[in-house]
Amino acid sequence: MSEALATTVPARDRTAPAHEPTVPARDPVGAPPAEVRPVGDEVLVIDFGGQYSQLIARRVRECGVFSELLACDVSVEEVARRAPKGLILSGGPASVYAEGAPALDVGLLELGIPVLGICYGMQLLAHTLGGLVERAEVGEFGRSELTVREPGRLLRGLPTEQACWMSHRDTVRTAPAGFTELASSTASPVAAFEHPGRGIYAIQFHPEVAHTPYGQQILTTFLDEICGADRTWSPASIVDEQIARIRAQVGDGRAICGLSGGVDSSVAALLVHRAIGDQLTCVFVDHGLMRKGEGEQVVAAFRDTFKVPLVAVDAEARFLERLAGVTDPEAKRKLIGTEFIRVFEEEAAKLSGAHFLVQGTLYSDVIESGGRRGSATIKSHHNVGGLPDDLSFELVEPLRMLFKDEVRAVGAELGLPERLVWRQPFPGPGLAIRIVGGEATKERLDLLRDADHILQDEIRAAGLYRELWQSFCVLPDIRTVGVQGDERTYGSVIVIRAVTSDDAMTADWARLPYDLLEQIASRMMGELHDVNRVVLDITSKPPGTIEWE
Ligand code: XMP
Repeated sequence: MSEALATTVPARDRTAPAHEPTVPARDPVGAPPAEVRPVGDEVLVIDFGGQYSQLIARRVRECGVFSELLACDVSVEEVARRAPKGLILSGGPASVYAEGAPALDVGLLELGIPVLGICYGMQLLAHTLGGLVERAEVGEFGRSELTVREPGRLLRGLPTEQACWMSHRDTVRTAPAGFTELASSTASPVAAFEHPGRGIYAIQFHPEVAHTPYGQQILTTFLDEICGADRTWSPASIVDEQIARIRAQVGDGRAICGLSGGVDSSVAALLVHRAIGDQLTCVFVDHGLMRKGEGEQVVAAFRDTFKVPLVAVDAEARFLERLAGVTDPEAKRKLIGTEFIRVFEEEAAKLSGAHFLVQGTLYSDVIESGGRRGSATIKSHHNVGGLPDDLSFELVEPLRMLFKDEVRAVGAELGLPERLVWRQPFPGPGLAIRIVGGEATKERLDLLRDADHILQDEIRAAGLYRELWQSFCVLPDIRTVGVQGDERTYGSVIVIRAVTSDDAMTADWARLPYDLLEQIASRMMGELHDVNRVVLDITSKPPGTIEWE
């Protein structure tokens, strides 16, 4: 996080699922086989529902080893079939003593595959193998001090005293017989143990979070020295592999892809185009609710630079006509969703013979929509109104195994312009749901578009664009009194909304520097004739939502 935003909450990871207005959101009927993992070594994360489980897989991938999450009730046979180089048992919200708490199949420990238990994963190992896990009333949450008493194999080369991040209530009092206790922490008598002979290692703290400074080193030791995994994975390394897969799936068939301007659909389209060239046609529906210049950027990038066959539909008039007189936010959303599908269907019908539909589904979406056993909260993934089931396409989803940051890396690798690679999430219904309490008329949309342009311009100039989850303007349907050039005015109010977030489920308002806010406000009031007041939204989520409608 930059100096300018230093007063905001700590830097958060912004790679979790964004809600992009990719065209479709429907059940992956006809989806490619779920298992589209790359060749090369992999380390599997057995997911007990911990809030950081995805992050563990991402950290493993950052070390160059492919990693996927498997539900904690996965069978031993399935794991054996995949022959991973290592297994990581994740954290989870349960107590090993709770009724129905996810259990550990000891068969997993007999496969001859090294195992690393983290947090609940460690407690499960202790509990299952005869150690002592104590129930605790007071937990250990947040930063803690770790003291390494015996580095063993796992903690070799680490300082004796170091910080680590804890998030647990129960605690391991005694390691199972035959295991070496390696470390303790402020509130955990046994914060790490191992049995190299049996290939079992465990830590109570979270190596995957940035607040554990030596966490990545511990994961690296596990992957390199204990598992002996080859570090061959990189987001770029999948490009060739995906291209081969897409060719095998599509053959000489035809595919279409709905482009939204967001990074997911853009990268998916480019990958597929690399694979099957002009057998792909992209459809970009410009509903007139995009931000300034966005439509042109999409067309310029895809049609002009990448020479991707692109149908750009100027549907502004059609959408505005439908939106006339509509003020209710849900009605706006529904109407835009339905109209979008209609336009898309019409275009698809013109492209006779297209059997495949390209979607930018991400790995996070796959995990979330599959549901996760043992997790405390299961996120509901929402997207723009889905395509109806009777559109009988077979799905092509080349990003199904990638996290958002990896998609960005692939996008950059494919030469996608920086603006598209780093675009902040933008809702499918676009600016229409940012005209609050009123009708989305052309005049209001243009005003909001201009205000938004000034905001983005200044935020980019201040170097803050990538730090914000989203930054945008809202135009409430009210007028306020002002005085400009000795004249009384009765003008529009622009609200500035800028938030930091890691997954849009929660968000904090960004502490934009005062000077920047002043610059934005004075530009808006100077350049936009109708605006005589600019205000800042300082609501976090919860209790507010990110959007106003
Ligand atoms: P809220 O306002 O619920 O938004 O905090 C969370 C995230 O979702 C985006 N959003 C939408 N995305 N269609 C979309 O594709 C929608 O109708 C929609 N509504 C909200 C919002 O921009 C934020 O990133």
